[in-house]
Amino acid sequence: MKRVAIYPGSFDPVTNGHLDIVKRGLKIFDKIVVAILYNPGKDYLFTIEERMDMLEKSMKKFSNVELDTSDGLLVNYAAQKEACSILRGMRAVSDFEYEFQMALMNRRLNREVQTVFLMTGLRWIFTSSSIIKEAARFGGDVSGMVPPLVNLKLKEKYGIKDK
Ligand code: PNS
Repeated sequence: MKRVAIYPGSFDPVTNGHLDIVKRGLKIFDKIVVAILYNPGKDYLFTIEERMDMLEKSMKKFSNVELDTSDGLLVNYAAQKEACSILRGMRAVSDFEYEFQMALMNRRLNREVQTVFLMTGLRWIFTSSSIIKEAARFGGDVSGMVPPLVNLKLKEKYGIKDK
């Protein structure tokens, strides 16, 4: 039996931290479905199409990774994909409460799907899409934190010209 995990998120945009989690996850799971789901608490910078395009280009190097989107409930999507796990990255302690709450709600909604947390590499422990967007918006250099294509897209979005 193949062990499939769903790696859900907003991916607005995908960062090197996300790629690190996929790389680690592939050591445990036979296949990872990276899925853009809707987080009602967020205003997105990039459209679903833009986020998917960046994911496709950044994840090309991985085999056994499928990319998808869903606008429904995560646990229903996981069941539909016959996934045994929901994979999430855990960075600093600040992630814990939100992740814990979401994992418990997901478990209540479907006891068959286990949430698995992986720690990101230390290099990415304080990076997040949100903080990267804030830095990029004001012209900060985020090139070491996102794939090169994402760096370009952020500059395009915020109208930042290279000096
Ligand atoms: O990258 P994010 O924004 O932290 O990811 C959160 C996401 C999209 C995984 C979460 O909001 C989600 O699962 N959305 C789909 C609806 C759902 O099932 N919510 C969780 C149960 S309350």
